[in-house]
Amino acid sequence: MRILMVCLGNICRSPLAEGILAQKASEAGLDWEVDSAGTNGYHIGEQPHLLSQQVARLHGIDISEQRCRRLVKEDIHRFDRIFVMDRDNYTAVKRICGESWQAEKNDRKVTFILDLLHPGEQREVPDPWYGTEKDYHMVFDMLEKACDRLIAQYRQEA
Ligand code: 4NP
Repeated sequence: MRILMVCLGNICRSPLAEGILAQKASEAGLDWEVDSAGTNGYHIGEQPHLLSQQVARLHGIDISEQRCRRLVKEDIHRFDRIFVMDRDNYTAVKRICGESWQAEKNDRKVTFILDLLHPGEQREVPDPWYGTEKDYHMVFDMLEKACDRLIAQYRQEA
């Protein structure tokens, strides 16, 4: 399985999602490739936000090696599942993919990450960019529950 986590900046939410899922998949003995990307290019090459790094570290996850990158349209072919954090991300993924977007296939491939917990509700992971450490903890908890569910679902289906 190749899984891509997508947010706006690839600096707060999706690096956390990548770090959490990579660690959990590895602990579960799953040989998954996990990556993340942003729909804008404001922070290309940067490390994740210090608060994302700090909150991850408190949970024993090191995301300091990650570097921000921008989503490219080839990603739609490279990955089996693409999880977005919010509606703006979803719209941007479609826009960036352009003619590479095939509705029938990609409507199943690209989904809201919180749909793992609340199917079809398209709930959003709030952007903590202007928030405090508390907001990063809240985001971590949401993403951790979603990643646990993804692994449980995969095992059930396998
Ligand atoms: P993210 O948060 O999408 O969770 O990485 C943001 C990071 C940067 C900006 C906005 C949101 N920004 O405007 O630079």
